[in-house]
Amino acid sequence: MSVVIFDHPLIKHKVALLRDKHTHTNQFRELIEEITTLMAFEALNDIPTKEVSVATPLETTTQTVVVENSVAIIPILRAGLGMVNGIHTLLPTAKVGHIGMYRDHDTLQPKEYYCKLPEKINEKICIIIDPMLATGGSAVAAIDLLKKHGAKKIKLMNIIAAPVGIEAVQKAHPDVQIYVAQKDRCLNENGYILPGLGDAGDRIFGTK
Ligand code: PRP
Ligand code: URA
Repeated sequence: MSVVIFDHPLIKHKVALLRDKHTHTNQFRELIEEITTLMAFEALNDIPTKEVSVATPLETTTQTVVVENSVAIIPILRAGLGMVNGIHTLLPTAKVGHIGMYRDHDTLQPKEYYCKLPEKINEKICIIIDPMLATGGSAVAAIDLLKKHGAKKIKLMNIIAAPVGIEAVQKAHPDVQIYVAQKDRCLNENGYILPGLGDAGDRIFGTK
């Protein structure tokens, strides 16, 4: 599947602020949420809807509403947690599943340490969220895991992605639609995205 890379001035503006090393934890978290909401508007454009009857003050009309419970938000811990509210702003009743994954600092291989998913995951559109797609190892492993639990329709949302990470996900899971706010140049020798924004988890939670 193709990758959606956003070309909206508001998203560009907010990503520029996000990258800035002088942006502090509080504003960093707000920006992550705002960018996620803007991206989610597009990523949710095919969620199931149904027709309902609505009485206006003047007459009754048939209107379109979103089917409740059709979307699951799946943050990859930790940094993905920072994006959850950005989607809940649009879909407050969406259930949240958590996948715990961290990159081994030496091998850059993902290590899974937690998985708790909503019931009937096979019936939901699963939106995996993680601000950073670097080697793609964590995203590929998270998608593997979701599929093992029966998920059939999966989307991946990342704020910053390296070309190699996008390629890795597309190769392993060509059925997964990817949404990226900005595609960066490359990875450095430690597997960090350039120009990037540093360690997203640390910047969201203030751990460094
Ligand atoms: C970061 C990021 C992704 C992963 C991306 O998490 O949030 O999950 O690295 O790298 P990859 O594409 O090479 O797998 P990290 O492992 O630093 O864990 P954290 O969110 O707990 O800080
Ligand atoms: N994880 C991050 O948080 N930042 C990167 O640049 C790469 C992986």
